[in-house]
Amino acid sequence: MNTIEHAVQLLKEGKLIALPTETVYGLGADAKNPSAVQKIFLTKGRPATNPLIIHLPDVDAIQDWAIDIPPTATTLAQAFWPGPLTIILKKHPSVPLITTAGQNTVAIRIPNHPLALAVLKQFQGGIAAPSANRSGRISPTTAGHVKLELGNKVDYILDGGACAIGIESTIISLLEETSIILREGNITKNQIADVLGKEVLSKSEKHTLVVPGSSDSHYAPSKPLLLLDTEHLFQKITDLSQTKRIGALSFQPRFSQNSLIEWISTSFDPKIYAKTLYHNLRTLDDSNCEIILVEKPPRQDAWLAVLDRLTRASSTYL
Ligand code: TXA
Ligand code: MG
Repeated sequence: MNTIEHAVQLLKEGKLIALPTETVYGLGADAKNPSAVQKIFLTKGRPATNPLIIHLPDVDAIQDWAIDIPPTATTLAQAFWPGPLTIILKKHPSVPLITTAGQNTVAIRIPNHPLALAVLKQFQGGIAAPSANRSGRISPTTAGHVKLELGNKVDYILDGGACAIGIESTIISLLEETSIILREGNITKNQIADVLGKEVLSKSEKHTLVVPGSSDSHYAPSKPLLLLDTEHLFQKITDLSQTKRIGALSFQPRFSQNSLIEWISTSFDPKIYAKTLYHNLRTLDDSNCEIILVEKPPRQDAWLAVLDRLTRASSTYL
């Protein structure tokens, strides 16, 4: 039995597998098997109110998972699938409520990774898969990260190397006349608006919206993380370096020769920054620093997804 067949076999037995996608590694189970899905929540320590994304092998499969599918869904599917876009639609009655955390809506995406697609095609079902980390923690972008997060709580880890995108998919709701971005990601609001040829709103522009499972604190290292603009970053390093071991993630070259400072210089390209972000945060979290200081990226469209993750990684401490 090869690795794909083995993964499919485990899914059919109601077990958990970790699988690579182009965004982050997912913790997958048969989306139509309630007891298998329950294991996902237990293993991650995930609140039962936080719904899961269902991964499908191809566009035709949507009919089994959603109803009243609007033409915008087809347009977005053609433009972006397989790829890092999750679409919220009305739930098909056959989808177990545990998978959608009691919502009558469903989150769907077709991932763009050869191993994930091979498993999905052979499985011929839907795989419910949140990121394969303990709830609230940094998402895994390598099989090694999954092992560190979940160890032997997962029945099998498919190793597909480092994820190409490195942050979670963009989530868009198509439930109302105007589409709304619920989570920023690699595919930007402007890209989606261009494809649809009409206005798209972001969550912050739609204040009345209640989004399940979008708690503020998330993607967090175990150490305090401060998000600072350039000037404040240097000031903070000067202030703290006598008393604390500092970890820094910055666009600048190493600022101080103080050997107690763990310094990571990162890319000015938002896509490369995103690809390495979780790995860099883990490296700082695992170092012997006591506090992590991150230089704030610019407030531009291309940086919104990264800014969202950094803000949530820091929110409990500010
Ligand atoms: O890139 C990704 O999306 C990765 C890979 C593995 O596909 N998955 C991922 O899953 O990030 P997770 O569980 O970490 O984040 C899924 C989020 C939930 O927190 C929730 O906010 C949203 O998707 N979601 C799921 N179903 C929803 C629904 N019916 N309505 C609104 N939001 C939903
Ligand atoms: Mg997650």
